[in-house]
Amino acid sequence: MRGWMGKFRSLFLFGALTLLLAGCGEENLSALKPKGYGAELLLDLMLISIAIMIFVFIIVMAIYAFVLVRYREKKGQEHTIPKQTEGNKALEVIWTVIPIILLLVLAIPTVQATFDLADKSTQGDEGVITIDVTANQYWWQFTYADQEIATSQELYIPTGERVYLNMKSSDVIHSFWLPSIAGKMDTNPGENMNTMYLEAYEEGVYWGHCAELCGPSHSLMDFRVIAVSQDEYDQWVEDMKNIDPEAAPETTTAQEGQQLFNDNCMSCHAIGGASAGVGPNLANFGNREKIAGILEPTKENLVDWIVHPDEIKPGNQMPTEIVSEEEASKIADYLLQLQHSDVGTDVPTQNEDE
Ligand code: CUA
Repeated sequence: MRGWMGKFRSLFLFGALTLLLAGCGEENLSALKPKGYGAELLLDLMLISIAIMIFVFIIVMAIYAFVLVRYREKKGQEHTIPKQTEGNKALEVIWTVIPIILLLVLAIPTVQATFDLADKSTQGDEGVITIDVTANQYWWQFTYADQEIATSQELYIPTGERVYLNMKSSDVIHSFWLPSIAGKMDTNPGENMNTMYLEAYEEGVYWGHCAELCGPSHSLMDFRVIAVSQDEYDQWVEDMKNIDPEAAPETTTAQEGQQLFNDNCMSCHAIGGASAGVGPNLANFGNREKIAGILEPTKENLVDWIVHPDEIKPGNQMPTEIVSEEEASKIADYLLQLQHSDVGTDVPTQNEDE
């Protein structure tokens, strides 16, 4: 008997803990602290629906408690059957009309928000940025076609502007989820392109995740959105346009690394330009927040990643052990000094616990 009680107790504790921990999260990976237009709209919808739910819950519970007390079996009446009622027009009208009103209160702003978020009226206008997003197992490519530049894993946008994303996938369905600035949108393989827009209010580094189960490394398919002022953004575009992939690094090991990289890695990767190849464009790699979207940007981590990508992101397309550890160390030296633009490096990543 005790054992059963114990089991239930841990079940209860576990349930309570789950509920409690569900409230934890990163400030910049939270739909509850919107820092952008879409996220704000979505939070408003959540609050309306929660308010309606609480209202319904309280009314139902009140009626339930009332009925429980009022109509419970009383002493001396154990065998009396109360008066039976069949049908009550007034009550039936009330419990049909109230839900209709509640649904309307929910539906009108939802439909409005749906059209608002799908709005593409300014796309293609002078000065309006459109970025092509390509999801891949398990990384993100961001191509700025007008500027002929590309990045991977880290998307740069100006604050206060509506920036459009044309989204596709090169393999399976993924989903671009950026909760603190916008919502979530699927990326599909084939011709079916989805479009959404981002409008960030504040400068910052915002976290995004793939939100569609896409393979063994789905949970590692992170990205960052770096929102900077318009001036800084323009500077970043300039910096990225001026990348010379042939530029020789300063140290000898980095120079050897460059040669090794060109021989072994260039068939998939690119540095600078607008290529969306088989692998990520590694422009500005030395200023990235993370390696492969998930690892701290240390040389040790990078060498591990170059030699054994399969152990870090299972199922990814990067070939394993094509270079030795020693060669990988030189390639790491080369990649880490690729600091083409320092725009965004001083932008705060809020609430990152380390
Ligand atoms: Cu890509 Cu999950």
